[in-house]
Amino acid sequence: MTNSNDQQTAIITGGSRGIGKAIALKLAEQGNNVIVNYQSNALEAEAVVKQVQAMGVKAKAVQADISERKSVDDLFNVAKAEFGGVDIVVNNAAVQIHKMINEHTAQDLDSIFDINAKGAFYVLQNAVQHLNEGGHIVALSSSLTTMMVPGYSAYNATKAAVEQYVRSAAKEVAQRGININAVAPGPVDTELLRNTETEQGLKFLAGLSGFQRLGTPQDIANIVGFFCSDDSRWVSGQVIRANGALI
Ligand SMILES: NC(=O)c1ccc[n+]([C@@H]2O[C@H](COP(=O)([O-])OP(=O)(O)OC[C@H]3O[C@@H](n4cnc5c(N)ncnc54)[C@H](OP(=O)(O)O)[C@@H]3O)[C@@H](O)[C@H]2O)c1
Repeated sequence: MTNSNDQQTAIITGGSRGIGKAIALKLAEQGNNVIVNYQSNALEAEAVVKQVQAMGVKAKAVQADISERKSVDDLFNVAKAEFGGVDIVVNNAAVQIHKMINEHTAQDLDSIFDINAKGAFYVLQNAVQHLNEGGHIVALSSSLTTMMVPGYSAYNATKAAVEQYVRSAAKEVAQRGININAVAPGPVDTELLRNTETEQGLKFLAGLSGFQRLGTPQDIANIVGFFCSDDSRWVSGQVIRANGALI
């Protein structure tokens, strides 16, 4: 794969841990400067920044709660002021709730929609407004959106919204040479999964993949890396499942 976007700048929301961290490292490997957004784990975000800088590109950790529009606006303003512009946005930060439908409280719904659906929209709006011509936008959905798995109703609804943003935005951003896609992972071994599944649940999920294992953050970062390279230019408005033959 080639990437002629050397020394371009990428913002990764939720880049401090899990899949976002692997994406930050992948985009750095492809020659991009990286803004590592996080919500509360400053130490982990700074550790990612150090790893990225060691790869010879610029990096900065920027705290911003994506559920607050002003924080997202500030995140993009920092990127523009300190890195000269933004070329790649990975809309990755999200939370998960694993509960039966009747168990969701009003607060659960507010929280998950504020972060995963509204927050992702604020990030998309800023990307549409600020991205340099020829850039790339990638959003993280979930393979769960097309599965009938109990316990993920609200989470899946937020991810369905994210997939729809991608389809709705594709022609709007194409006018400036920007492509936008979503990657929909199956279960990936991160804290998000481990916080909601038992060991037995994790084994069960691993057994559902054709390869008899959970996904790794690197599996997903490799696909995102492709969508952030010029080789992906003719693919836009698509949702690609990355789940080891789960569905
Ligand atoms: N893991 C899976 O099995 C799986 C499967 C399908 C899809 N996905 C999707 O993949 C993406 C990454 O998941 P993951 O497993 O890597 O999650 P994770 O390990 O829980 O990491 C979540 C990241 O998002 C950040 N974050 C959370 N709330 C935020 C907020 N309000 N504002 C800004 N940042 C916030 C966290 O920052 P702090 O470190 O500061 O808390 C952290 O960097 C998510 O969109 C998720 O829905 C994951």
